[in-house]
Amino acid sequence: MGKTYKIAVLPGDGTGPEVIAEGRKVLQAVADKQGISFDYTEYDLGGERYLKTGELVPDSVLDELGKVDSIYLGAIGHPDVKPGLLEVGILLKLRFHFEQYINLRPVKLYPNVETPLKDKGPEQINFEIIRENCGGIYTGVGGSAHKGTPLEYATQIMTYSRPEVDRCLRYAFQRAMKRAKKSLTLVHKMNVLTEVGDLWFRAFHEMGEKEFPEVKRDYAHVDATTMWMVKNPEWFETMVTANLFGDIITDLGAMIQGGMGIAAGGNINPGGISMFEPIGGSAPKYTGQKKINPLAAICAAGMMLEYLGEEQAGQAVENAVIKALESGKIKSLAAGRMGLDTGQVGDLIASLI
Ligand code: IPM
Ligand code: MN
Repeated sequence: MGKTYKIAVLPGDGTGPEVIAEGRKVLQAVADKQGISFDYTEYDLGGERYLKTGELVPDSVLDELGKVDSIYLGAIGHPDVKPGLLEVGILLKLRFHFEQYINLRPVKLYPNVETPLKDKGPEQINFEIIRENCGGIYTGVGGSAHKGTPLEYATQIMTYSRPEVDRCLRYAFQRAMKRAKKSLTLVHKMNVLTEVGDLWFRAFHEMGEKEFPEVKRDYAHVDATTMWMVKNPEWFETMVTANLFGDIITDLGAMIQGGMGIAAGGNINPGGISMFEPIGGSAPKYTGQKKINPLAAICAAGMMLEYLGEEQAGQAVENAVIKALESGKIKSLAAGRMGLDTGQVGDLIASLI
């Protein structure tokens, strides 16, 4: 008998619970095959709970989450709650509290998946973005004054310390080492952000030279990166970037790999408690309609298995997703156009494990 993993499940808002249910279906199929098991505890963090109780993440829940092997998250975001409140109060709170300083977002076009990029296929679209996930402009350093008056002003500062940058870069170099070309591109905006960009740039080259001489280093400005990701995505293999830039370019990445229906990510604390989620939001207009695509949540479950050290199991999930897509049974990755409902997609993947 293999290991039992303690998983905290945070289905969240909108369609979050629907996609998480399918992820769990697939995890069960994997568990049966690989002789591992999962001990789940569900938490109802999200907009509904907030509207009912005013609570975001109670300390008692933080304590409990601190004892699990991993966190599996659906989506956070509710149409009746002011934008930012749940995002900062729940999602960022968890990322920061557990020091999930890496946001790992693979951009991989699977076979038979439509990309908006003309003449590009799975050969060209296959890279990985490592987004710094706890610092930068997301830290929230700053403030405002004279709010609501004609003189009002506000600041929110991009802060980075060398240790924060170094720990992110080290992870990125390690990921780059696992790939064929061993190439790592730093994405920043050092032509304008001459202080914080310079810090990243020097740290990148110093670490590369000293610790990872096998890795080919490259640099691109973030604005140009959006251009190359569309025009020449095959140039990229592993990318590393600051929090806000990573937020932006990973949405672009999600689109070129077929959309939010397939894009998964991991909020990772190497050696700590990590949290895996589909990148897309709570899609409230599809709630309860069985139209939402669960593949992103299923791929996130696969990433979680890999992180837990069950690499074979994680690979099994990815292989099943690829087989399902190759079969042509899923007509489109867009919500409502899959030709199957949410549960049927989950069943299909589970049957292919
Ligand atoms: C993401 C999201 C979040 C972010 C929001 C919801 C706070 O866009 O995970 O990419 O900006 O990180
Ligand atoms: Mn985002």
